[in-house]
Amino acid sequence: MRASRQSFLVKRVYSDLVQPRAVHRSVYTDPDIFAAEQERIFRRAWLYVGHESQVPKPGDFLLTRLGPDEVLLVRQADRSLALLHNRCTHRGARVITAPRGNARQFTCAYHAWSFDLDGSLTGVPLPEGYSKDFRYDDKSLARVPRVASYRGFVFGSHAASGPDLPAFLGGITSVLDNMVDRAPGGSLTQTGGRLHMEYRGNWKFFLENAADQVHPGIVHVSAVAAARADREAADLPGMTGQVVQMQLANGLRAAEWNEIGIHGYPGGHAYMGSFYRGAGVIAAERKDPVFQRYLAALTATHGEAKVQEILAMDRFNNLIWPTITVNSRFQVMRVVQPVAVDHTVVTSYCFALDGAPDEMTALSMRFLTAAASSGSLVAADDLDIFERCQRGLEDAATDWVDLSRGFDLDRTAPDGSMSAPGTSELHIRNQFTAWERWMKGSPE
Ligand code: FES
Ligand SMILES: [Fe+2]
Repeated sequence: MRASRQSFLVKRVYSDLVQPRAVHRSVYTDPDIFAAEQERIFRRAWLYVGHESQVPKPGDFLLTRLGPDEVLLVRQADRSLALLHNRCTHRGARVITAPRGNARQFTCAYHAWSFDLDGSLTGVPLPEGYSKDFRYDDKSLARVPRVASYRGFVFGSHAASGPDLPAFLGGITSVLDNMVDRAPGGSLTQTGGRLHMEYRGNWKFFLENAADQVHPGIVHVSAVAAARADREAADLPGMTGQVVQMQLANGLRAAEWNEIGIHGYPGGHAYMGSFYRGAGVIAAERKDPVFQRYLAALTATHGEAKVQEILAMDRFNNLIWPTITVNSRFQVMRVVQPVAVDHTVVTSYCFALDGAPDEMTALSMRFLTAAASSGSLVAADDLDIFERCQRGLEDAATDWVDLSRGFDLDRTAPDGSMSAPGTSELHIRNQFTAWERWMKGSPE
C-alpha cells in the first residue's frame, strides 16, 4: 500500500468510518481497508485454530489457518501445543499438505529439509554442498508467538503482546464453559469433519447476520412456509422432525423476537436468546429416552443443582468477535475466514459431548447440516443476502450504512455488558466499537 494512501486511510479509520449509529460503506468494499484489517486485526487478535481433541497425541498435527497464514497446530513431545508456519525455510514451499496426521518430523517435499515437531531444522540432504557457516539454528519453521487453549478450544495470535486469551474473550467464555459443562465426561471431541460455505461478500456480514432478529421472518419466509406445509413431519417420534421444527422456529412475530433479546460484551462479543423454546426434539429440555439417559449421566457428574444451571443457559447464536459463532446447546461452531474484501469462506464444526449417548451427536450434526450446509434452505437464503449487500454497497450513491435500530433502547450494566430487545442492531454497533479499537491500534 502506498504510504500516502495508507496515512489517508489511517486518518479515516481514526476519525470517519465508524459513527455511533452508522458505518461508512468502504469498510465492506475497500481492498485497502481489507488489507489494513489483515494487519491490525487478523495478525494481532486471538483467532480459533482448532480443538485439542484433534491433536491428542504427541506428533499429531492439524493443518489450519491463523488469519492470512496457513499454520500447523502440533502436539509436542511434552504434550504442549505449538503453532508453526507452514512455509519451508529453504525456498518457501508449503511443508505439509495433509489436513491432519501424526509425524515424528516434517519433511519438505521439495528438497527434503526436515524439521522437528517444534519446528527446528534437523537435517538437510547433501549437507556438504553448504558453506561452513550454514547454521541450522536460524532456519527453524517460524513459530506463532502465542498459542493458548481455553477448555480445549485452541486459539493463536500472531502478536507477541496484547491481551491474553481470557482477557480477549471476556464474558463470552460463558458459552465455551457451557458447551464443555454439558459433557458428562467433562470434555468435548471435535467430530464429523468440517463443512464449508463460501460467498462473494465481506466477512463482517456473517457475524452481523448471525444475531439479526429482524431478517428471519423475511429472508427465511420460504423455509418457514415449506416447514408449515410439512408440519405433520414435526410430530413424528424421535428426531425425524428436527429440520421441520428448526425451520418453523424462524416464523416468530416481531414481539417474540424482541423478548428473546440481544446481549453484548466489551470486546465485540454478543449473544442472542434462543428461539427454539418448547419445540419438540429441539427443545432445551426433553422427555424422550435419549435425553433422559443423557440427563442421568450429566447428573451423575455434576449433581442436580448444577445440571439445572447448565441446562438453563438457553442461547442461540453466540458471537466471538471477530470470526466465530457458537451454539453450545447443539455443540456447533462456525468460523469465518476472510479471503478478500468481497470473498469469505465459513467452516463449521460439530463437537461430541464425551460421555453422552451417540444420538446427541446425531442431533448436533443434523442441526449443522440443516442450518449451515450448502443444502440448507436457511443458509442459502442468508448467502444470497450477503451477496446482495456486497453488490449494493459498491454503489457510491450513499456512503453510510444505517445501524441505528434499537439504539435508544441499549442498556449498559456496571460491568460493561449490554442488552436490548432482540430486534436491536446492538451487536453490530458493538462489533464496530471493537473493530475501531483494533484498527486504531490500541486493543488493550
Ligand atoms: S523448499 Fe523446502 S527443502 Fe527446498
Ligand atoms: Fe438467516
